[in-house]
Amino acid sequence: MTGTVLVTYGTKNGSTAHIAESIADTLRRHGLTVETMRASSVPFVTRYDAVVVGGGLYAGRWHKDARAFVRRHRPDLAQRPVWLFSSGPLDTSAAERELPPVRGVRRAMLELHARGHATFGGCLDDDADGWPARRILRSGNGGDFRDFEAVAAWASGIAAELKP
Ligand SMILES: Cc1cc2nc3c(=O)[nH]c(=O)nc-3n(C[C@H](O)[C@H](O)[C@H](O)COP(=O)(O)O)c2cc1C
Repeated sequence: MTGTVLVTYGTKNGSTAHIAESIADTLRRHGLTVETMRASSVPFVTRYDAVVVGGGLYAGRWHKDARAFVRRHRPDLAQRPVWLFSSGPLDTSAAERELPPVRGVRRAMLELHARGHATFGGCLDDDADGWPARRILRSGNGGDFRDFEAVAAWASGIAAELKP
């Protein structure tokens, strides 16, 4: 593929953005041209030849920006190769086994004929926004469970499918 890949994401506290940047870096290392952008800032997807969409998980759902992005661009997304990812679990479960997408993301996969999905470990830092986050932190369940090697391996698989 000689065109441009969009890697876009919905995030509240920023950790999904780092995963998206890491995916983009890997795709670039494989020779692809990549743009990254917050999902709420993408005006249209027609200039991209493939799209990777990710969202942080909140109460069993993708971040609202990722959901709105899929809703807004559904017809155009369904016409190009699309991969989805979720970042969430604040434990080692994502590193230990393949975690299936939550229900809404599974539905999006079907609607968009997505080529794949991965759930990566999430991150909740001491400076996270909102009282629910602070409650989780107070109970000692925060931390950084992102596995950037797993992210790079997944992104390499995407590159292998996109490269001629
Ligand atoms: C209020 C709240 C609810 C959460 N709910 C879930 C959840 O349902 N499933 C999950 O795997 N992780 C959940 N998490 C963990 C987040 O998905 C994780 O912190 C993720 O990395 C956040 O992404 P972001 O930093 O890009 O916003 C929750 C975190 C908070 C603060």
